[in-house]
Amino acid sequence: MDLENLPSQEECIEEVRKWIAAYPEQPFAYLHTFGCQQNVADSEKLAGLLKQLGYGFTEDVTKASLILYNTCAVRENAEDRVFGTLGSIKKLKQENPALIICVTGCMTAQKQVADKIKKSYRYVDIVLGSSAFSRLAQMLYAHMHGLKYAQDIEIYTDIPEDLTPLRESSFKAAVPIMYGCNNFCTYCIVPYVRGRERSRQPEKIIEEVRKLIQDGYKEIMLLGQNVNSYGKDLETPVSFPELLREIDKIPGEYWIRFMSSHPKDASPELMDALVECEHLAKHLHLPVQSGSNTILKRMNRCYTVEKYLSQVNYIREKVPDFSLTTDLIVGFPDESEEDFQATLNMIKKVRYDNMYSFIYSKRTGTKAALMPDSIPDSEKSQRMQRLLALQREIAVENNQRFIGRTLTVLCDGESRKRPGNMTGRSSENILVEFAGTPDLIGTFVKIKVTESHNNMVCGYIL
Ligand code: SAM
Ligand code: SF4
Ligand code: F3S
Repeated sequence: MDLENLPSQEECIEEVRKWIAAYPEQPFAYLHTFGCQQNVADSEKLAGLLKQLGYGFTEDVTKASLILYNTCAVRENAEDRVFGTLGSIKKLKQENPALIICVTGCMTAQKQVADKIKKSYRYVDIVLGSSAFSRLAQMLYAHMHGLKYAQDIEIYTDIPEDLTPLRESSFKAAVPIMYGCNNFCTYCIVPYVRGRERSRQPEKIIEEVRKLIQDGYKEIMLLGQNVNSYGKDLETPVSFPELLREIDKIPGEYWIRFMSSHPKDASPELMDALVECEHLAKHLHLPVQSGSNTILKRMNRCYTVEKYLSQVNYIREKVPDFSLTTDLIVGFPDESEEDFQATLNMIKKVRYDNMYSFIYSKRTGTKAALMPDSIPDSEKSQRMQRLLALQREIAVENNQRFIGRTLTVLCDGESRKRPGNMTGRSSENILVEFAGTPDLIGTFVKIKVTESHNNMVCGYIL
């Protein structure tokens, strides 16, 4: 079987469908996703394809006829987890040689990883790079025709419009508006594994969102590695704030969120849209990564602390307690104590409602991987603890501002810690807990806040 001369996607889907229909019983697929929401959105498309091919789904890996891992490469521990998981299923293949094992995602888009899997995990049948995931049907076709190992780790520039996602939630949906990244932050592997930025046509996005709202979805998350550069590559350029304002015209009771927003391109137009558009959740995730200009420069982030703070001030002048969250990297190569202090100062100035902080992880192929680093791991861990302690303190104080206020909350499930209580997120993306019943899941409720904690607030239904 020659991978260069496979039939078209449609023909492969048809042939694989017939092959699967001939199983004595419907086979089950086990699909597990590592990594970010973009990967989760890709997995929903993969699940749609698997369903189209005739697979059922199982949460029990031992019951699966096909195991598919959608992987992440952003930090070393993400990759270690995938290798560990792959090691743990070797015996399943030994017990059932007909089992099909596929690995896709950002991790396998790296040649050295695909080579390692081919050499050391010989029971893996199919390896696909992250922009090649939609070629699963072709790879299954090749497998079914006897190809022992099928691999496609090309970086493709097409957009998988033809795959219909099988969504996990009936009220929250992720809608990718663009794929890839052009920014090449020096620590980051994403542009190497997801390729260059490519935007979906605005009509396709608006049509998808409109349909989701008609189907009762209450929260739509627009996804891209840098949504602020959305539309620049289109034949008729459309800016991200323009897209937001078009979506906002769709009637209904729903919220729009988006991530991620790169500060180098976050414009006053974006902030104006956030404040003015009825359906836009009143929250902005604006990843700062560091509060030191020296480090920001070495990260190739293309903004300064001053520019970032001027954006924060712009929106906080309109809404003084506007909710902001961020991503931060601790222990970037040769980050000095002074640089780290500058990051703590940034946190004190902005007073984020939440933050996702990561210890720097060296990624082969990135520019930062070649930078000298004299900071010991123990020092990086201590800095992380100091950062988390400061953020906890701020979050406790921040959450007090909600006491006595009424928040609109999208109820999303039962509290795991306190049975009988329900949880949800407010428009500001604050976690809210309240006494309620499961029939509220997927609906908006008004909650009067009575208590605040470091990572959530509590209240009662009005
Ligand atoms: N495109 C988004 C942006 O620019 O904000 C971020 C996408 S990245 C998948 C999510 C977060 O992972 C980044 O914001 C950064 O904080 C973190 N990250 C990326 N590369 C990393 C690395 N090598 N080590 C530690 N954290 C990293
Ligand atoms: Fe990575 Fe930077 Fe692109 Fe975000 S903007 S995905 S951090 S290169
Ligand atoms: Fe996301 Fe991980 Fe890829 S964070 S873009 S799945 S490297």
